[in-house]
Amino acid sequence: MATKSGSPHFGSDHDGDHPDRTDEWEALRQRYLLPPGDRPASTARGVHHQALISSDVATTIDFYQGLLGFPLTELFENRDYEGSTHFFFDIGNGNALAFFDFPGLGLDEYTEVLGGHHHLAISISRDNWEEAKRKLTDAGVETYEVGGTSIYFAGPDGERLELISDPLGEMYGMTVL
Ligand SMILES: [Fe+2]
Repeated sequence: MATKSGSPHFGSDHDGDHPDRTDEWEALRQRYLLPPGDRPASTARGVHHQALISSDVATTIDFYQGLLGFPLTELFENRDYEGSTHFFFDIGNGNALAFFDFPGLGLDEYTEVLGGHHHLAISISRDNWEEAKRKLTDAGVETYEVGGTSIYFAGPDGERLELISDPLGEMYGMTVL
């Protein structure tokens, strides 16, 4: 499956051209990172949905429901934009992935901007991770594997995705939440 923006680029080339920021990061940890027992409860309740933009509803459904196994759960008219579709997929744990289409708006190709979407990481079981990797490869979607637990790839409109086999709150063998 070809994507509009081609293959995404992830990570640096570790070419020795990057600054050593170890001291800066340690200072930030000392200044801001509270021990688990001292942290207040989050004021939030989790990811309700992340919204992305789709150029074609059926293609997006074929990819997310058909290929990745995220069931379509609702589809209706965008309340803010007449003629625009708003539709949702179940990405587990009560979290939704949402899309809009904007027919006739003439959107240009996705461009990376400060403050814009970088990638959406979705946690799945190891078995489902292995199956997704196989299905994506079989479907001709180029994947980029990191650390044996993450695959990065692009959705039908170039949206950058990560499937991670680490459980929620864990990454690279560390507890991050
Ligand atoms: Fe990530």
